[in-house]
Amino acid sequence: MVSGDPGFYSLLAALKDRFGPAKLKVIPGISSVQLAFARIGRFWQDALLLSMHGRRADDGALAFQPGKKLGFLTDGKHNPAFIAELLIKLGWPPATQCWLCENLSYDNENIAALTLEEGSKVSGFHHCVMVVSDE
Ligand SMILES: C[S@@+](CC[C@H](N)C(=O)[O-])C[C@H]1O[C@@H](n2cnc3c(N)ncnc32)[C@H](O)[C@@H]1O
Repeated sequence: MVSGDPGFYSLLAALKDRFGPAKLKVIPGISSVQLAFARIGRFWQDALLLSMHGRRADDGALAFQPGKKLGFLTDGKHNPAFIAELLIKLGWPPATQCWLCENLSYDNENIAALTLEEGSKVSGFHHCVMVVSDE
């Protein structure tokens, strides 16, 4: 019914409130975030996973800290260029590495490895997971 994992910014929250967890059988899926980290060969156990899909993460979560790693769901408004520009404003070095992982698992999958400065100027990447890492 839904893409990725139903328990990660998906339908499960609404279904649980409507029917209660006991009435649900949840079939897990591979999240787009999990797939993005796999594609770029990075582990995600220490990453802060945030959604900017129809919402905006708060500045405290987005603020730069040495060694910090972020994984984002994005949308057309909060797209990678918007997020890259915001992170630079919040203190991330413009040379920080980021990856834009578009259309994961589809024939037109596209993964771009850029700096935040480069990312702030890209267009497109609408169906996209963004990973940012100070490594
Ligand atoms: C409502 S969220 C659903 C997330 C989903 N539950 C998951 O675990 O991946 C939709 C967002 O997930 C990301 N997304 C979902 N499928 C994707 C894919 N195949 N490739 C890249 N990003 C994807 C995009 O950021 C999209 O805007």
